[in-house]
Formats: sequence, C-alpha cells, structure tokens
Amino acid sequence: MDNPMHRLLIGTLLVLGLAGCATTQADLEACLTLAERGFRPIAEERSQRFLGKVQDFTARCRGGDKAVALRSQPWVDWANYWATGDASTKPAESGSKDRHLSPTGRGIDGALLDLEYQRIELIKFNLFDNTGTYKDYLQGRDGVSGPAVKTWDEMRLPKGHPAYDAVGGDGTQVCHGDLIRFRTLTGICNDIKNPAMGSTNQPFARNVEFEATFPDLGKTDLTWNRHGDRLGLLKPDPQLISRKLFTRPQSQPDKCREGHGLPGDSPEASCDYRKAPFFNVLAAFWIQFMTHDWFSHLVEGHNQAEMMTVGCATQRVGNIEKPVTPDEAAKLGCRPEDRIDKSYFAQEAGPPTFTANGKEHLTRSYKTTNNTVTAWWDASQLYGHDETSRRRVKRDPADPAKFLLVSADPRPGSGDRMGYLPVFEPSDPINPQWAGQEATAFPDNWTVGMSFFHNVFAREHNLFVEALRQRAAATPDADSGLRNPLRPDEAIRYRDVSDDELFEVARLVVSAEIAKVHTTEWTTQLLYDEPLYLGMNANWHGLFRGHDLVEAALEKITVNNFGKSTDAKKAAQWYSVFASGPGIFGLGNRVYADDAIFAKYDPKKTDVWSLKNPDHVNGGVNHFGSPFNFPEEFVTVYRLHTMLPDLLEYREWDKNPNVVRNKIPVVDTFRGKATQAIRERGLANWALSIGRQRLGLLTLQNHPAFLQNLTLPRLQSATGKIDVVALDLIRDRERGVPRFNEFRRQYGLRHLTSFDDFVDRRLPQGSPERLEQERLVGVLREVYGQHRCDASKIITVAQVNADGTPITDCLGHPDGSLVDNIEDVDTVVGWLSEFTRPHGFAISETQFQVFILNASRRLFSDRFFTSSFRPEFYTHLGVQWVTDNGLDGKVMEKGRPNGHQGEVSPLKRVLLRTIPELAPELAHVINAFDPWARDRGEYYTLGWKPRAGAESDEAFAGSQ
Ligand code: HEM
Repeated sequence: MDNPMHRLLIGTLLVLGLAGCATTQADLEACLTLAERGFRPIAEERSQRFLGKVQDFTARCRGGDKAVALRSQPWVDWANYWATGDASTKPAESGSKDRHLSPTGRGIDGALLDLEYQRIELIKFNLFDNTGTYKDYLQGRDGVSGPAVKTWDEMRLPKGHPAYDAVGGDGTQVCHGDLIRFRTLTGICNDIKNPAMGSTNQPFARNVEFEATFPDLGKTDLTWNRHGDRLGLLKPDPQLISRKLFTRPQSQPDKCREGHGLPGDSPEASCDYRKAPFFNVLAAFWIQFMTHDWFSHLVEGHNQAEMMTVGCATQRVGNIEKPVTPDEAAKLGCRPEDRIDKSYFAQEAGPPTFTANGKEHLTRSYKTTNNTVTAWWDASQLYGHDETSRRRVKRDPADPAKFLLVSADPRPGSGDRMGYLPVFEPSDPINPQWAGQEATAFPDNWTVGMSFFHNVFAREHNLFVEALRQRAAATPDADSGLRNPLRPDEAIRYRDVSDDELFEVARLVVSAEIAKVHTTEWTTQLLYDEPLYLGMNANWHGLFRGHDLVEAALEKITVNNFGKSTDAKKAAQWYSVFASGPGIFGLGNRVYADDAIFAKYDPKKTDVWSLKNPDHVNGGVNHFGSPFNFPEEFVTVYRLHTMLPDLLEYREWDKNPNVVRNKIPVVDTFRGKATQAIRERGLANWALSIGRQRLGLLTLQNHPAFLQNLTLPRLQSATGKIDVVALDLIRDRERGVPRFNEFRRQYGLRHLTSFDDFVDRRLPQGSPERLEQERLVGVLREVYGQHRCDASKIITVAQVNADGTPITDCLGHPDGSLVDNIEDVDTVVGWLSEFTRPHGFAISETQFQVFILNASRRLFSDRFFTSSFRPEFYTHLGVQWVTDNGLDGKVMEKGRPNGHQGEVSPLKRVLLRTIPELAPELAHVINAFDPWARDRGEYYTLGWKPRAGAESDEAFAGSQ
C-alpha cells in the first residue's frame, strides 16, 4: 500500500484499539493483530476482491463475537460491527476518550473503511463503457494507462450535429462560449472536452463484464454451464413469478378490490402491505421523480411497434415445467392474452472483438440500448432533454425567467397562491394518454407524486427567480458573479442578468438542490444508520467536515499526488478515497497559485480559478477512464415498484392531521387524474398525506395489485392490461442483465449457494419472522426449481472459491447432488429476497453495491457539481442558495438528532418555502423522508411509535 495512504488512514480513520478500551481481552488482542498486519491490499485481480468480508481478528476488533459469528454468511461483515445498528449495538464505552479508539469508533470507522474498499474496487473492476472506449480502458493510450485517460473520440459530436462546428468540427473538440455557460438542453458540453458525454441518446453503460451480459443467449461456455437451457425471455415464466412471488396477500380482499378500494374513497377501504417504518411514500415518489431525470429506455413513452407475449404460459410443479391451463390462469390471476411492445435496441449485431494480454475481449455488450434522456442530474424531467420535451415546458409570459404557474381554486394555504403548473394544450407535442396532465418535460407514468414534486420545484424555481429580482432591485449595480465566457472580464450586474440567463441559473440551482436533497437527505433515510449518514454527507460535504486539519491533509494528498496522475492506480483508486475527505461537491472550484487544483475555500489564499482556463472550468471532474452514463444494471436496482402502496391515506392539514379522511387508490391518481387530484385537494394536503404514510418494504410478496393489472391504452391488446412487475423481469432479460448470483459476483459480493442463504440467521430459530422467510424460500424453490449438479462445469471467472479452485455448477455441494437453481434467479427477485440487510437499509446490500459506484460517479463526472460550481455560472446568490439551502444563512435544526448537530434539511427548507402552510407539521420533521409523525427516538431506531401530539393518529393503531 502507498505510504501516504497508509499513514493517512492510520492517522485518521483507524487508529485502532491499542489504548486498552476494547470490550474484552479477546477484542483487544484482535485489534493488536489488526494493527500489526496493517490493511489488506487492493485486489490486483478481479478474482481476489474483498467481497465485504474481513479476517476473523478484524471482525472481532470491530464488532466482537457477533461479528465473528456471522462471518460465514455471504453478506457483508460491516453490518455486524459495533454501533452500526440502533442503540442496542452500541457497547458501554470506557477507557480512552478518543472516539476512534472506542468500540463504537472502531465499528463505525471500520464500516467506513470497508465501504471505501468496496468503492475503490468497484471503480477498478466495474466500469464497462458501451460506446467503444473499452479497448483504450484496457490497453491505455499514448503512454497513459486506461483508467487515467480523460478524453475519447467516441465522445466527439458527430458531423451533422448542430453544434459540430461550434465545438471544433474535425479538429480537437472543446466546448466554449454559450455552450459552456449552463446545462445545455441535450446535455452536451457538461465535460467541455468530451462534448457528447451524458447527452440524450447515448448508450447505457454496463457494470459487469460484457461476456457476462445476456446469459439467456448462452454465448459462452460459462453461461451455458451456469444455466443450461433453463433461461429464456419468458423462462421461467415472468407472470407466474409475479403471481407467486410478488402478489401481496390480502386479509380483507373485499375492502381492497385489487387496489381499487371502496366507492367514494371510503376510509374503510383496506389493502394490506408490508411497510417500512422509517421511510415514507414521499420517498417512493421522490425516487420515481429522480429516475425520470436520470434514465429512460422509452422514446416519448413507447417502445418498438412490434408486440410480444408476456407469459402466463408455463409453471414449474414438482420441479417439472408444465403448461398453465385456462382454469389455473384464472385462479392465479395471470393473463395469457397480455401483450407488450418490444424494447428498442441501439446495436444488436455481434460486437467486434480485440485481443489484449493474450485474451479476446468484446468491445461492448452483445446488444446495447440508448438512454433517451440526459444522464446528468440536470432536472431534465422539469426542463427537457430535447426540442420536443422543451416545447412542453411553459414559461411565464409576464416573467419569462419563471415557469408559468396558474391559480387553482383559492384555498386557505398561502402556498396555493404561488399557483400550479398549467395543463397541456391540444397543440402541445404529447401522446394522447398524457392529455389533462400538467405541462412538463417528462410526462410519462404521471402520478400524484410526480405532479407533487414537479409543482414544488417549479415553485422553488420561481422563488429563486424572485429572490434574484429582489436583489437586482435592491443593489442593481452590484456584481451578480455571473460571467459570459465570451467576455469573461466583464462583470454582469444584477440588473443586467437577462430573463434567459436567469431561467438557466435557476435550473442550475434547482438541479443542485435536488442532488443535495437526494444525497444528504433521501439516501441517509434509505440507509438509516450511522456509517451511511457519515458516508453520504462525506460525498457532499466531506468526511471530515469541521475537522480542518484532517480535511486539509486529505485535500493536499488528493490534489498533489493523485488528481493529475497518469498512473492508473493513483488516478482512479486513491483519488476516490481522498475525495471523500474534502467531499465531491465543489471539488476543483478553487485554484490557489501553484497549489493543486482541488482545494476548498481558504480566506488566506488568492483564488486564481479562471473562466478563461478550460482546465479550471473542467478540472474537477474525474470519469475514472470510462465515460459517464448509467449502466443497465443501475436501472435494474431502481425497479422499486414494491415501494408503492395500493391506497393513499388522505389527510388534511387544516383539520386534524391525525385523521385519515379517505383511502384513495393510487390508480385513481394516475395520468390526468393526478393533476385533478393535486388541484382539487392541494399540495399541502398531499404532502401531509404521503409524508405520514409508510412506503412498501422491498421484499417478496409485496407488490401493489394495481401495477399487476395496469391498463395501458397504447397496447391495444385483447386485455389492454399489463403486469408491470412481470414486465420488470422481462425488460431486464431483454437487456441482458446477469441473473442474481453472477450479478453479485461481478459486483464483488459473495454468491449464495442455496435459497436457504437468504434466511436471516440473526433471527431466533422458530420466530415468526424467520418462519415467514423460510416459507418464502420454499416458494422460490418451487418457482425456480433444482437440478443435479455437475462439478466439472465451471460457471464463472469473476470469482474463485476461498481455496482458489474454480466455482462450479455444484457451488460447493457434492458432485451430482440436487442443488437449487439459484443461478437462474432474476436479479430483481434476488434482491427482493435479501432478508439479511444492514440496519435501517430500505434496499438490499446488492442494490446498495450498485449504488455506491454510480451515485458517487454521478457527482464526480459532473462539472456543475465540481469545478464549475462557481458564481460565474450560478451567480453569488445561487451559490449561497445551494450552500445554505436558501438565503437565510445556515439554519440549524434543534437538538442533536442521532447525536449530530445539523442544518435544517434541504427538502424541509424547500417545503417550508413552497408550501408554507405546512410549517406546524414540519416543525417536528428532521428528515422529510422519515414518516412525519414517527418518534425518531434516540439512535437510529426503527420503531413505529407516534411523536408527541400524534398519539391519536390511526396509522399507529395496532402494530402495523
Ligand atoms: C403509479 C406509479 C407507477 C407506474 C404506473 C409505473 C409504471 C411503469 C411502467 C408501465 C413501466 C414500464 C415501461 C416499459 O418498459 O415499457 C415502468 C418502468 C419503470 N419504473 Fe415505474 N411506475 C410507477 C412508479 C414507479 C416508482 C415509484 C419507481 C421507483 C423508482 C419506478 C421505477 C421504474 C423504473 C426504474 C422503470 C424502468 C425504466 C426504464 O426501463 O428505463 N416506477 N414503470
């Protein structure tokens, strides 16, 4: 290991328990062993990866007996360290007062270190670009090793592109002038030296080896050995999987009526679902709102014209595949007559190959698809990703810097006076099914939640515009900070900021606010424990926020040693580690004389960052040798339809908020009905309702009934319906996502050897929860089946067994024995079956692994979140708004929730501004995604108890 790295980690993260504060003598000895042996090296080969599994003595030092006992499980070890759960995981502290030396400190620091190892390895082993750059990545170019390459021909704008000449045509392409000022409509020129990166219609990337994609095609011996002839687009039957493994059992079906509730939205309606106590329905809609910004496979809401069948044809009974009879179909509730449009593909011909290091490699996956929106976190769902979507965005003729908001019926709340987005006009470029919805750039799958967030952020946009207009009125001649790159030396006064400029500045501000809400608020509640609270805040603010000395040391090392390196290891691996010191957001937006370009605000030094210098404008980004786009695998782990309830528990803020007045079917708030519902009932009531309601736990047999029976008018099939959750599986198969076990191996996680591995061994034998998991494992076995294994068949090269032998079809079981078809499990089914999770994780560890890599890359690669987070683009006012969550300076939350003093959360600030009537309700809220009336207790409790004042809230009646 590099010396500076070693010293730094010793000095900051893991000064281990040499001071006699271990919990037992055995723990102390384990800590000594760990200190003596130092840190494990980063794997040189894919097959030597860390897998989230530590040595016996490391586990003992960081988590005592419990951590040691659970090491044999496939799941990551850090989840069993001290203090990574609720208060019960914190041992009584004694001895040294140094936080890092205590058991709690060792547990938390150890978890952070494990997570960092995983990020380093993910960056090293999991980047596979589909645009043709992979050869350079593997072989390097012009003496620069692949992971340090920073520009690619594949990221040039093609001839015929409207901006082709402007970026340099045939010569070196570098964006400048108007193209670099703001986020462009189609996302070009975010990276000024790679104009096409992240723009509309670029191919989705992969996070798994190309050879591991499309297992159904049986292209390699490995995939053939792994799955035999057991896989196909409709094999195992996706509708059968949906009905057997996804359907929510209902205790009172006549009160649920497949998600349609009771007439008149009666509060007597009831649809059972398993609920996550620490995450609300607002959070479910938030992530749908995010995915509409990040990725889409559909073009204007549709796929290819050609239709295909979608299953309900076969089922496995007694380990034998049999046809489904009409009677059985009716009993199961599946529909053989359903049809869906086939996916689009960008490239379907076999990929070219090349030879490197004596081995033949594919240049891309067997087929590719395009991301039909921008991959940037640029709020394209609000502002558009091409000319057509932009035509749907309505600006206010009275102030063109604003979104047009119109008044709805006057209600008592002051927020309603800010207005609502207007409805589409017949002349707008829309699909017939979008008629009656609010006019916005991304209108597909419009729900009451989409309507809610689009209206909230449209109001927020307008409030920022108003604030800047007020500043311009108060100090018209003051320097706004904004600059035009064509005249970089000319200050733009507040009075001179044009309407168009202001619209685009507001877009930058809103996008950054959204990214901040997501990183520091949504994610910390999704992954509700201390290591992730620290880790996610580190991505944004830096790991050592408030610890100036450590931060400065990290920053210096990042910049001087790694930022500009042409050596792969330094450029890619350590860079990501050290960036978590100063934080990714704002990296490179200060340049001090001969110091490195990655530095943070220092009042003692002169900042020489210059808009005239492309290396300053672009200098903060790092793509780790692989152009940024989301991988197909990322879409897979965001198929979160389980989070939705069937019925929304409707409340009113100006009456008693503890009373559920209606149960409104989600399906009755879909498309145009969403718009109607939002306008008739108001944003404040909806915020209160979905803020208080818990979302659906991501687990088996917990999908909403309405999505299994969704009417899609565009299909024109005999049924006109589709099972969206069966479609989740079909789409993944169409796009060649590896099945669950290989998916885990590819991502550097340990595979499972039988369905029984899913059962959470931390639960007592015979406990109701464990019995339920065992029952579900039985259903998995019935659906996917078993086979007699052949130990001569090697099934993967991504990993080897602990003794170095290859992994075979028998997965460690005796040759010829009957083994579970665990290799065939669809990845979505697999992660829904992960009953063993780190504390407070709404998602599974497999989903999280995908997330570690891609969530930080989404920040690392974006100039506007790194070196171009500057007044020259955002204005002084904009920088302040994003940094302080508004213009009132830093506003601190009362108390020390979970032991941390913190600012009032960014979404809470947005909601207080855009829906001020919520102030009394929000007074109790710390994180807008935690159910609003829940008592958050002391330290990451997941309990379901009402806070003071909400005791009569009927959501707390009974346990569920
Ligand atoms: C009422 C609510 C919702 C409805 C009606 C709905 C409907 C749909 C439909 C019909 C598709 C399939 C498109 C296709 O491949 O042909 C889809 C895809 C998807 N949905 Fe939902 N959805 C809803 C909520 C959500 C939520 C809350 C999430 C959470 C993240 C989500 C995430 C996704 C993702 C990731 C895809 C795949 C998109 C792609 O392939 O690019 N959806 N949804």
